[in-house]
Amino acid sequence: MSHRSLLFVCLGNICRSPLGEAIFIHKARAAGILDGLVVDSAGIGHWHAGDSADPRTIEVGLRHGVDVTSIARQVQVADFERFDLLLVMDRENKRDLLALGAPASRIRLMRSFDPGLAGASENELDVPDPYLGGPEGFETVYRLLDAACGGLLRSMHGM
Ligand code: 4NP
Repeated sequence: MSHRSLLFVCLGNICRSPLGEAIFIHKARAAGILDGLVVDSAGIGHWHAGDSADPRTIEVGLRHGVDVTSIARQVQVADFERFDLLLVMDRENKRDLLALGAPASRIRLMRSFDPGLAGASENELDVPDPYLGGPEGFETVYRLLDAACGGLLRSMHGM
């Protein structure tokens, strides 16, 4: 399966999806497959549109050598045609996208790409929202997204 355009989606587009986007870009660049891909992120909500990522998101990226540079924006209906793959962080994001009219065939829970979770059921695949918690939540999100991005990249590499 060839996915050339990827949209990472979460609720606010300042914590999970910008980090997933940045980790994926970092890995795809290192693997030499970034050219020709369109990679972006967006949020279900509009509250943070125009904002940089949460400072805790930027910090956890920096601790791992990953630059988080994205500016938040809200998901648009046009994204459902523009992007081959809508990579959601949790089941609520998936329900919200479906309610907005996104085709189910393009939506994947991000952690379904984690090779360590093959065969897991949907309710085991949420990336927990770290926004209202402490800094350790951002380390957890980093670890989960790093594993999932590795699996996603391998799935695109045909490895
Ligand atoms: P994210 O976290 O969905 O991972 O970006 C959130 C950030 C902000 C809000 C909710 C979740 N908020 O309600 O403002």
